[in-house]
Amino acid sequence: MNMVAKHAIWPRENDIIFGIAGKAAEAVKKFGKEDVINSTIGALMDDDGNLITMKSVFEQFRALPDAEISAYAGLAGQPDFLEAVKENCFREYQPDAFIQAVATPGGTGSIKHAVWNYTNPGDQVLTSDWYWAPYDTITEEIDRSIKTYKLFNDKNEFNIESFKENFNELVKKQKRVLSIINTPAHNPTGYSLTDDDWKQVLDVMKAAAKDKENRISLFVDVAYIDFAGKADEKRKFFKQFSNLPENVFVMVGFSMSKGFTMYGFRSGAIIGISSSEDLVEEFKYACIHSGRANWSNGNRGAMATMTAINNNPEILEKYSKEKDMYKNMLQDRAAAFVEAAEEVDLELLPYRDGFFVSIPCDDPVKYSDKLMEKNVFVVPLKMGLRFAVCAVSEEKCRKAPALIKEALSEKQTSENIA
Ligand SMILES: Cc1ncc(COP(=O)(O)O)c(C=O)c1O
Repeated sequence: MNMVAKHAIWPRENDIIFGIAGKAAEAVKKFGKEDVINSTIGALMDDDGNLITMKSVFEQFRALPDAEISAYAGLAGQPDFLEAVKENCFREYQPDAFIQAVATPGGTGSIKHAVWNYTNPGDQVLTSDWYWAPYDTITEEIDRSIKTYKLFNDKNEFNIESFKENFNELVKKQKRVLSIINTPAHNPTGYSLTDDDWKQVLDVMKAAAKDKENRISLFVDVAYIDFAGKADEKRKFFKQFSNLPENVFVMVGFSMSKGFTMYGFRSGAIIGISSSEDLVEEFKYACIHSGRANWSNGNRGAMATMTAINNNPEILEKYSKEKDMYKNMLQDRAAAFVEAAEEVDLELLPYRDGFFVSIPCDDPVKYSDKLMEKNVFVVPLKMGLRFAVCAVSEEKCRKAPALIKEALSEKQTSENIA
């Protein structure tokens, strides 16, 4: 018997990442943290395995008057926060277009807004074959689904051919297509589209937009942008969203979770970009309505924290320095991992930026289990293993590839024997 309605019946399974993280915690208790590599956590951790929280952020949060934390925020988000979001997201690369932002609970809320408001029931949403699993959850919850293109070609470059083929197939079928692209610092591969990749993607979209009946929308998930590249170089692509055809609508999913280490505060925004003022107004009111229907409004204290940082040059400088220190730490860890992988000839997907590195393999669950026996905890995905360099010290990032290679080679030996 079910009490929930038919659409609300889902498999009774717990998040696999939390399950493995639990086993890692048990191993730490049993063997000590020196001997355990826990690369399951999708948050920045220090070398001792403690969550990193930015001092410059929490100083601002703690300085807020109680009423500023306690009060409701406006349905669209506080106006000064929405300005700060645009400045923080684009820096000097704001597109030449009409732009509106609406506050959301984290980047997750912005994905929900895009899927709900820019697709119809039964539609497929296009993303790459390596993708963040909650894209499935968000789409299937509301009778949409995910269609994928191959992220990489055989030269391990962005697979524009596969993107084009799958995109055009959907345009033909649905006339209305939402594509989600998670870049820079893609989860789980760490790939970042180059400016040239972007040009090619937009060329495909512009070609489809020649038929004025088509409705092309693009959601760019920039959850990890603050940890990508040097200075703001990985924001340059935003400029390419200038002067697009009216039937190409771009949305950017902005999150305060990683960039401000405010994961649990649930704050972010969706930013709509269009060459039509009317269409960004339409966007804004659609998102305000959805927000009201789902979570009412956002976290005012988190909004005020970011506004306080953004609007005071001295505080902004302090925050930027602190963030850059952690970005450098992350980049050193990732470089150590990639270098060590090369030394032992462990195949990786092309890592450029961010929290995660992926190792393609068959039967990822089997190899994740094997690695657990060596006290290495990784996340098995559909097509490989995900290693979170954000959560593991540089020293352990240097050690891990050899252990992973060893586990994967055990496969070859037994297969060869068979
Ligand atoms: C690819 C990707 N997009 C979006 C998010 C959104 O996170 P949040 O809702 O915490 O801002 C995450 C968080 O892990 C992510 O990995």
